[in-house]
Amino acid sequence: MSDSQKRIAGEAAALRVEAGMKVGLGTGSTAAWFVKALAARNLRDLRCVPTSDATADLARELGLTLSTLEDTPRLDLTVDGADEVGPGLALIKGGGAALLREKLVWEASDRCLVIADAAKVVKTLGAFPLPIEVVAFGHKTTGNRIADVLADHDIAMPARVRTAERGLVRTDGGNLIYDARCGAITDPSRLADDLKLITGVVEHGLFLDLADEAIIGTDDGVEVLV
Ligand code: 5RP
Repeated sequence: MSDSQKRIAGEAAALRVEAGMKVGLGTGSTAAWFVKALAARNLRDLRCVPTSDATADLARELGLTLSTLEDTPRLDLTVDGADEVGPGLALIKGGGAALLREKLVWEASDRCLVIADAAKVVKTLGAFPLPIEVVAFGHKTTGNRIADVLADHDIAMPARVRTAERGLVRTDGGNLIYDARCGAITDPSRLADDLKLITGVVEHGLFLDLADEAIIGTDDGVEVLV
């Protein structure tokens, strides 16, 4: 993981934004570099929809004009990080527990640009544990159903509820996150469909057919993947 790679990717993405645009702001350390670079450009009439409370706080502090999906239902561009960038720009996201709001904002955007350091680019998705957002009520039962689906995909490890020092991790929406150590996801599309069918699963971190382009920071500059 390289902070300078994240930074150059974020800064390159900020150059894609034009005055007057409606922009989705991603979550995480790479997205934070984008938010900082965007604020520094001081573009006229930007309207920004953040994907988390943390990004909203940062953007507000930097003087960006914030909006919500209710007031700005269609966005020109969203820029966000990822935990893994696989073939065809299939992604795993949600390491920062913001995947539900992220997906809502991505799906409301005409274009989605993913920014990442070079270590995030993989040949097969699944080494990074797949985050799955689950409602708190009955979450252990939901966790068992997730384990059944994973087993059906030859993934033996059950998903584990995410905890931090202060106990269970809550998303901005008050839900829980289960992390599934998949190893290798051989059929991301079928897994995505099967997870969505489980009552109690709110969303999963597979972002398929959503990213239009990736800007990858490397030690030699940025690489663009389409
Ligand atoms: C948050 C995300 C982040 O974009 C992802 O975890 C990457 O984070 P970072 O840029 O800090 O490596 O999906 O839910």
